[in-house]
Amino acid sequence: MLKVDNITVTFKTDEGIFKAIDDVSFHINRGEIVGLVGESGCGKSVTALSILRLIPLPAGRIEKGKILFKSKDLLKLSAGEIRKIRGKAISMIFQEPAAALSPLHRIGKQMVETFLFHKNIPRKKAWNIAETWLKKVGISDTEERMFAYPYQLSGGMQQRVMIAMALMLEPDLIVADEPTTALDATIQLQVFELIRKMRQSQTSILLITHDMGIVWEMCDRVIVMYASRIVEEGNLNDIFSKPAHPYTIGLLESIPKLACNIDRLKTINGYVPSPFKYPSGCYFRNRCPHAFDQCKKEKPKFVNLGKGHKAACFLL
Ligand SMILES: Nc1ncnc2c1ncn2[C@@H]1O[C@H](COP(=O)(O)OP(=O)(O)O)[C@@H](O)[C@H]1O
Ligand SMILES: [Mg+2]
Repeated sequence: MLKVDNITVTFKTDEGIFKAIDDVSFHINRGEIVGLVGESGCGKSVTALSILRLIPLPAGRIEKGKILFKSKDLLKLSAGEIRKIRGKAISMIFQEPAAALSPLHRIGKQMVETFLFHKNIPRKKAWNIAETWLKKVGISDTEERMFAYPYQLSGGMQQRVMIAMALMLEPDLIVADEPTTALDATIQLQVFELIRKMRQSQTSILLITHDMGIVWEMCDRVIVMYASRIVEEGNLNDIFSKPAHPYTIGLLESIPKLACNIDRLKTINGYVPSPFKYPSGCYFRNRCPHAFDQCKKEKPKFVNLGKGHKAACFLL
């Protein structure tokens, strides 16, 4: 369905140019839910935005690589062609609903216009489908809500409207960037249930999260990103039962398993460095409990561990 091939994205800032993602490659099969995990600042959102060509210009630039969607390179499409793909074939759920909703139009009108841009159906029918989707994401009083402006809704409610808009066109691929971070636990479950249902109709999902618990509940395969690079990839069971990269192991050890154990929770030492301060060699070596000489000198290459499981570390 999607194949991201050696993508590098740079940003030009007052401090200079840096790589926000560095030579990132992965794929998503039809009907698969792939988790993209890593701490804040590792390049997850930039990866998501590149897929839809939404990297803010002119500061951001996709320097190289290909993004093949059903074998077509999205980076070669015209602005008009990519607009036709956004929403219809690939839709995105953002961390921030404000990024997707227009403050100037009522919810119902926005949803209907989105529908009519992509599908040739009567307005009344589009209205009814839109309202049904609001119900599906757990919104009550939908008749009234359809006439509300985004500012009249709470943040969590806006988030659900955006999720409804992303799902209603039944896209082939959904890119969900921390989709439920702002929602309370009950609604979160409801949204995940909907996402799982979409998968049954062969929709593929890239689920971005910093929460390994959500990955365990939702994903078939996992990609772990650290400081602009992918460090490990594998199916869910391999990642959880035989994590290979010290960073993945660190992320897993920081999952709160039981509330009563919480004071024994381990954390990874230190922070993700600023992209201007990435160390030489392996970017994780400053925080790695096993780092040795070679980690300073060279960038580790991927080692294949079987069944699509691979990690970039000199210990392997
Ligand atoms: N619009 C932007 N301008 C400049 N730097 C950016 C921009 N967006 C993201 N970055 C930088 O790119 C890196 C990756 O960010 P991001 O993809 O948002 O991380 P994540 O989603 O994993 O938290 C970070 O260092 C971040 O500060
Ligand atoms: Mg992000």
